[in-house]
Order: sequence, then structure tokens, then C-alpha cells
Amino acid sequence: MADRLDQVKSLISSHPDFPKPGILFRDIFPVFRNPKVFRHLIDLLCEHVKTAVPKAEVIIGLESRGFLFGPMMAEQLGIAFAPVRKAGKLPGKCRSVSYSLEYGTDKFEIQDESVKPGQSVVIVDDLLATGGTMKAAVELLEGLGAKVDECLVVIELKDLNGKAKVTKPFHSLIHY
Ligand code: PRP
Ligand code: ADE
Repeated sequence: MADRLDQVKSLISSHPDFPKPGILFRDIFPVFRNPKVFRHLIDLLCEHVKTAVPKAEVIIGLESRGFLFGPMMAEQLGIAFAPVRKAGKLPGKCRSVSYSLEYGTDKFEIQDESVKPGQSVVIVDDLLATGGTMKAAVELLEGLGAKVDECLVVIELKDLNGKAKVTKPFHSLIHY
């Protein structure tokens, strides 16, 4: 039987020219149709965090596909979860940052109360492409005084060299 990571990889599908010509879209949703493989994915992410950032205090998930893993990871690790959302969706006092991505621009926000200054956070998302999204998230978290101890994604698109924009420890499970 293929190892757990190979099982995850085998379910990621590729869609040329979506959502725009020239983009090869990597779709993670087929993984969620298979509960056993979905469980393997969450376990692999949590095992990595336990080793790399054993004192992590908050998992930060990036809208929207970071929300697919972040809360489950936080629950399994017994730590907090907080979201970074597209602008205008979070109530209360927030800070915001604009950023560019592989196929457009966007604005991210985080609630000021999501983390306390000095807390150790791990930022999770499904995929790193140009790195603009992750860079913006790091900026938000550092603006709140958090310690970004790792940026963690399931998929890294190596050709786009997004890792160069990420100034914090970075880890990906699968690369293309
Ligand atoms: C995708 C993906 C990452 C981001 C990566 O999200 O889920 O968050 O792009 O791109 P980058 O490294 O070039 O910044 P998208 O903005 O499409 O939003 P969605 O998750 O809400 O679909
Ligand atoms: N987000 C940015 N680029 C992407 C891609 N190529 N596939 C899936 N999600 C993405």
C-alpha cells in the first residue's frame, strides 16, 4: 500500500487554464472525498508541527482553503485556531494588508484579539504559488506581535519561487 503522503498526492487533480488561461490549477478537494486519506493528511500536518514547532500556541488558517485544515489541526494539537479572512468579513478591531497573487490582488484581515504579543503561531494554507498570500499573512501576524515560527502548506508550486517571499521557516508536504 502506498505511503500516506503518496495517497494524498494521488488524489490531487490538475486543471489546465483554470481560473485563467496559463494557470495549472491544483485541486485539493478530491482528498476530502476520501475520509481515510483526509485523516492521513491532517495527521501528517500535525506530526510535522509537533516536531518542527513543539511549542506552537495558535494555528492561523488563511481564507479559504486554509480553513479546511487549520481548525482540525488545532483541535488535534490541543491549541487555538484563528482565521485570516478577505477584507470586510471579520467584526471588531482588525488590521489589514493588501497583496497580489498568481491571478489577481486581494486584501486580508485579522482580528486584533486573535493572538497575544509573543505567542508562537503556525500559518497554514493549502498551497504556495507566488508567495504573496503567505507574505501578507506573515505581515499581519507580525503586526500583532506574534512569533511566526512556521509557514506550512500542503502544496508548493516550486517554479513560481514563492518561498523566496516567505521570510520565516517554511515547509510544504508536496511539490510540483
Ligand atoms: C489560493 C490558495 C492560496 C493562494 C496562493 O487562494 O489557496 O491561499 O491562492 O497564491 P499565492 O502564493 O500566489 O499568493 P485564493 O486567493 O485563490 O483564494 P481561495 O482560497 O479563497 O480560493
Ligand atoms: N492558488 C494560486 N495558484 C493556484 C494554483 N495553481 N492551483 C490552485 N490554487 C492556486
